[in-house]
Amino acid sequence: MKRCRMRNLKLHEIRSEYLKFFESKQHLVLPSFSLIPKNDKSLLLIGAGMAPMKKYFTGELTPPSKRVTTCQKCIRTGDIENVGKTDRHATFFEMLGNFSFGDYFKREAIAWAWEFLTEVIEISKDDLWVTVYYEDDEAFKIWNEEIGIPKEKIVRLGKEDNFWELEVGPSGPCSEIFVDRGEKYGCGDKDCKPGCDCDRFIEVWNLVFTQFDKDENGVYHPLKHPNIDTGMGLERLATVLQKTNNIFEIDAIQNIIHKIEEITGYEYGSNEKLDVSVRVIADHIRAITFLISDTVRPSNEGRGYVLRRLIRRAARHGRILGVKKSFLSELAELIIESWGKDYYRELKDNRDKIIAVIKSEEEKFLETIEQGMTLLDNYIVKNLKGSDKDTLSGDIAFKLYDTFGFPIDLTIEILAENNFKVDLDGFNKNMELQRQMARSARDDSDNTGWSSEENDKIYEEFTNKFVGYEEESTNANIIAMVMENKLVEKLNVGDKAIVILDKTPFYGESGGQVGDTGVIKSDSFLLKVIDTKKNSKGLHLHIVEVEAGIVTKSEVFAEIDKKRRTNIRRNHSVTHLLHKALKEVLGSHVNQAGSEVFDNRLRFDFTHFESMTKDEVNKVEKIVNEKISESLSVTTTITTPEEAYKLGAVGLFEEKYSGEVRVVSMGDFSIELCGGTHVKNTSEILMFKILSEGGISSGVRRIEAITGPSVYNYLNSLESLRDESVRFLKVSTSDMLDKIKSVVDLNKNYEKEIKDLKQKEAENEVSNIIKSVKEHNSINYVTYVFEDVDLNIVRNIADEVRDKIGSVIVLFATVSDGKINFVCAVSKDLVKQNISAGNIVREVAKIAGGGGGGRADMATAGGKDISKLDLALSELKNLI
Ligand code: ALA
Repeated sequence: MKRCRMRNLKLHEIRSEYLKFFESKQHLVLPSFSLIPKNDKSLLLIGAGMAPMKKYFTGELTPPSKRVTTCQKCIRTGDIENVGKTDRHATFFEMLGNFSFGDYFKREAIAWAWEFLTEVIEISKDDLWVTVYYEDDEAFKIWNEEIGIPKEKIVRLGKEDNFWELEVGPSGPCSEIFVDRGEKYGCGDKDCKPGCDCDRFIEVWNLVFTQFDKDENGVYHPLKHPNIDTGMGLERLATVLQKTNNIFEIDAIQNIIHKIEEITGYEYGSNEKLDVSVRVIADHIRAITFLISDTVRPSNEGRGYVLRRLIRRAARHGRILGVKKSFLSELAELIIESWGKDYYRELKDNRDKIIAVIKSEEEKFLETIEQGMTLLDNYIVKNLKGSDKDTLSGDIAFKLYDTFGFPIDLTIEILAENNFKVDLDGFNKNMELQRQMARSARDDSDNTGWSSEENDKIYEEFTNKFVGYEEESTNANIIAMVMENKLVEKLNVGDKAIVILDKTPFYGESGGQVGDTGVIKSDSFLLKVIDTKKNSKGLHLHIVEVEAGIVTKSEVFAEIDKKRRTNIRRNHSVTHLLHKALKEVLGSHVNQAGSEVFDNRLRFDFTHFESMTKDEVNKVEKIVNEKISESLSVTTTITTPEEAYKLGAVGLFEEKYSGEVRVVSMGDFSIELCGGTHVKNTSEILMFKILSEGGISSGVRRIEAITGPSVYNYLNSLESLRDESVRFLKVSTSDMLDKIKSVVDLNKNYEKEIKDLKQKEAENEVSNIIKSVKEHNSINYVTYVFEDVDLNIVRNIADEVRDKIGSVIVLFATVSDGKINFVCAVSKDLVKQNISAGNIVREVAKIAGGGGGGRADMATAGGKDISKLDLALSELKNLI
């Protein structure tokens, strides 16, 4: 076989060639999404190009373009313990992908993949093979007839290989492209082809024809429109183009290995066992660098644990290679330089944090690893080797974790290297005990643990003064810093922690009002305040991230984000006006049941037993806006609860307030007990708009609303929507509604016409259907699939076909709105032979995830899973 020369491109060059190619096919090139999934609880980390775009596929969100291309940073940790041991496993990789959201489909996806591989990077056509989903005749035909791949090089494979899905979300049948690397990589079997386990055929590209949305119960719901999701492993493609044996030999990763050689003095390739350590580090350092850049910080949970485990595993393998000092940050510099050059700019922006976080975590571990390893080695020698025991006790595993910072998976791995196990039950019991003792607050989004009874103990000795009613900034002193539930003396760049000041203008989340954000700084450091909380004793806790410098307990300048707070004030004050207006319109039974005040919107829950009419909503909105334009002055007084009650203030007297209370009045209109921050005059609120009103539980309603600049933004977005609609409909604004009505009417007529036509067409099919009759075990049978044809009509056609053929089993399916209906008709003579349409239809529908039954001569049933339709129909032959 003649092998033509492929282009020998470097890793970073392949990435840009790919993106450029799809840009030339009208795709929008997007930067890689973060490794942290957004609003997706089903994933810990992004592990595929499509994963951050699930909502574009399902239609929940509108993509910025119907054609998108990316190179996505990905991490898969399922095989982490094998990384290094083989040269095939990796945690970090990059996935090239092109995506169509309801735009192009199979034909274009296949043709462009072929064009890129054979014409852009010039892989020989002779070396390419493909696989398709076993019943995807359409893809088979495109590959064979349009692309010209011979039939024997197109392999049909089952769901296992050629159906792509995550736990939940967009999924569908797929077609994979393989490169034949030549016999020398093969198993020698004459029949060796894609699907074989050997190294000869390497899968480079997966084209997924995304047609379903899989839910938590495993049910596939057809998507409104078909999509394209493709994924090609960048490193794997590089091994093909650079003709290397594995990903560790490609250019960019070789550079990392050279650097490891330089640091350790060990020459890669000279000792099998030590090579494992080099590969572990070369892989992990990329995952580590990218994770920190995407704001993950080492911790004992979730993503933070993945990061901690990667850093500590890499650090340990550094020690195996004889390195005594911390060295990972030096490698991270290389990654930042090399990967951060053009596509992953964020690496350069986050350089200081990446380096600081790695250093601090690695050094923390190095302080204890020596003692931990000694403990472990002694235990192995004294208690396991030469005894009949093969398990490390849970208590020791816990001690290694708790005192010496060994992630449990690392302990398991070290024991496994010596052919021993760990008593995990014992370990978990210790963990549970610790958890009960600490009862520490678990919050996925930040691991700073800001409040719980137990954590409050740490804060017991501290108090502070809130000056945020009057001031937006102040000089103050840092009196304590807490990280991972422990008091610390120092914070480094990249650390996330809690800082306590003796005096603060930052409002701590309470009374429904969100906490303030802003900065705390001194000449030598800068802290970003991400949020502010208040613990049960009223102590203000600033959740911070260190932006620059080394933080110590010292004098600082603290300043809130003023613009944000201005909007929060507007939204908080307006809840008081809203509360009173609701009482006026609906009655005095209305009481506040909760509220949430953000900078860009507000939520107000109140007691009322029925939904508000449009008229009531309008009235309430009007009253509030009138009170805004009346420019009522807002005053606050501190008084006794009794006095406040006499004044007629509303609020939860019994619960929250003892001693002094704060009363907020707005002219004569509203008087409420409240600890929040407010505008000085209602005119500052500018404008109020209710966006929705609805029930949240029996007798409790919720209003969602906006004020000030948000109303302005809302108007603008409505205006653009109107402008776009008018442009699209090609009418003036005043004719817009008429036009929409007429289009909808017209559409209805068309729908009816199409339906009628389809039915006619179906009836015309009768003679074709009759011709397609087959025979098995001397019994005639016929199957057929209709699309969007009414069940009654299908039943009539089944009758007709049965009568015309005479002796036959008729099995029809009709598919509409993503559901299947089966119809089975059996002629009298066959009914006499105990063949029952009811039984047939029940068995068939079962395969497609449904059920039903009926008489022996005619029966119907439903089904849900369209992907199983062909399988279900072919069951008839088995039944016969
Ligand atoms: N989503 C597909 C994959 O990851 C392309 O293989």
